[in-house]
Amino acid sequence: MVALDHVNLRVQAGEIFGLIGYSGAGKSTLLRCVNLLERPTQGEVWVDGQEMTRLNKRQLQSARRQIGMIFQHFHLLASATVADNIAFPLRLARHRNADVTSRVNELLDWVGLSEHAHKYPAQLSGGQKQRVAIARALATRPKILLCDEATSALDPETTRQILDLILRVNRELGVTVVVVTHEMSVVRRVCDRVAVMEAGRIVESGSVVDTFLFPRHELTRRLLAMDDESEANLSAEVAHRQGNRLDEWPGRKLRLVFRGDAVYRPILSEVAQMTGGHYSILQGTVDVIKDVPYGRLLMQWFGDDTAVAQAIAALEERGCRVDVLDDTSSLPVADSPRPLDDASRQQGSVNVGAGAGGDAG
Ligand SMILES: Nc1ncnc2c1ncn2[C@@H]1O[C@H](COP(=O)(O)OP(=O)(O)O)[C@@H](O)[C@H]1O
Ligand SMILES: [Mg+2]
Repeated sequence: MVALDHVNLRVQAGEIFGLIGYSGAGKSTLLRCVNLLERPTQGEVWVDGQEMTRLNKRQLQSARRQIGMIFQHFHLLASATVADNIAFPLRLARHRNADVTSRVNELLDWVGLSEHAHKYPAQLSGGQKQRVAIARALATRPKILLCDEATSALDPETTRQILDLILRVNRELGVTVVVVTHEMSVVRRVCDRVAVMEAGRIVESGSVVDTFLFPRHELTRRLLAMDDESEANLSAEVAHRQGNRLDEWPGRKLRLVFRGDAVYRPILSEVAQMTGGHYSILQGTVDVIKDVPYGRLLMQWFGDDTAVAQAIAALEERGCRVDVLDDTSSLPVADSPRPLDDASRQQGSVNVGAGAGGDAG
């Protein structure tokens, strides 16, 4: 059986990259290829300019010190204190005792667990356990952090806190992060780019904003539909309900999607004025995903077909993506032809760039 097939993945240094898909898609297997916990039968794995599959045992050991990893169920040593758990990789790497102590204290402080240093994992909450695991993963100042469903066992509030910590790992320490998850909300919150996986393949990849606003693959749409806040489908019911009352007016229902600077410009009033048209907004969101502003509106544009067509052209000229919705349709999700941004196209390769490296404290 083949767990991964024709997977080409390029993670840039300094970014947070998401791997999303349902259970069994091959996400963990792909993630474990990065540090060679899983050795692919074919293909290459490049990390920070090194081809991992060609390293000897000793070289691999040292390369792995550059790669931290955290898991859904934390994998802490139950019989060791918080401090000893964090010290573990440092002792393995034969750091001096004094250095171990100062590094552990630094990390405890950085993840906010200084008072819990001498407790055992069983005495901690799930979120605290994951903080310990993150501190342990950062102990040897890795350049890369791999997160396998790191928040999947946590409640929503704790999930937010751990995701904020992962953002700090990336921003403050310059660590490149790869996040495996089955939740779009996790991707939306922390990732810059994302790859969607199904049956051992990547079916779609790109920037998170584009993937959210213009999903191309059916699976991506399904994953988005489970995510409350994404509004992949502005409610068809609203369109229908409000649409019926609007039927007495001439006009068309439009779905507008825009991003970046377009959010701040007075596009709607400009176009309405220019074309002598009118509109009403039925439903919509203006928000930000990872620093990129976007808008998504469901609206009625009033007028005859010529006037509406003129307005659509003017909106598109201003960078809006416009879909015309007929009254009977449930709302289609846009499927614009976005170019794949994967640079590497050869068969089976994983390439992870590395950030500046961990420097906690
Ligand atoms: N080394 C392997 N060789 C072949 N198949 C594997 C291997 N490891 C895992 N699998 C299978 O590959 C599929 C993907 O597993 P996994 O990567 O754990 O998916 P996910 O993390 O997306 O839930 C599963 O069906 C699993 O049983
Ligand atoms: Mg998994």
